[in-house]
Amino acid sequence: MDTHISPSLLRLPTNESIESSRGFLAKEIRSIGMARLSVLAKRAAKNRSLSYSPYSNYCVGVTLLSTSGKVYDGANAERASYSETDHGEEAAVTAAILAGEVKKTGRKFVRAIVVSHASNTAPCGRCRQILLEHCDDCVVVMVKIDGSISGITNLKTLLPYAFSPSDLGK
Ligand code: THU
Ligand code: ZN
Repeated sequence: MDTHISPSLLRLPTNESIESSRGFLAKEIRSIGMARLSVLAKRAAKNRSLSYSPYSNYCVGVTLLSTSGKVYDGANAERASYSETDHGEEAAVTAAILAGEVKKTGRKFVRAIVVSHASNTAPCGRCRQILLEHCDDCVVVMVKIDGSISGITNLKTLLPYAFSPSDLGK
């Protein structure tokens, strides 16, 4: 039996993809500014205190920086039926759409998403897909519950080999 796997078939992170994300983050963080990201982080932690999560007791607060420079807020909101729960990231994206971002800026309006989760984690898989609907890539900032930044990454790192609007010709 031939067990040889052609390396070109393997879909893994490449040095190029890692360096491209490093470059994207360096450029975006420099352009947005760490001071501004810190303010967004504090605001995400404040939004976390507005979460309605009586079932999981897992509060999530979010701020979204749009390419137009506006900031939108989000928090998770649970329902007794569970499956209708809004995630904080999703709520911030919807707030931006309702404020007219798509009309003004177009579909790709997300520049940075700043999330305060109790466990210092990144947006869930569903939220990653929702974010990809509104950017090709964005800065993802993870925030501790005290409002300090615990880590920074980008959406392409969190959602590699993604199915995106471009696969549907958009
Ligand atoms: N949650 C979010 O708001 N965002 C995520 O990406 C992860 C999960 C919320 C949903 C639910 O209210 C609680 O966290 C526990 O899953
Ligand atoms: Zn989510």
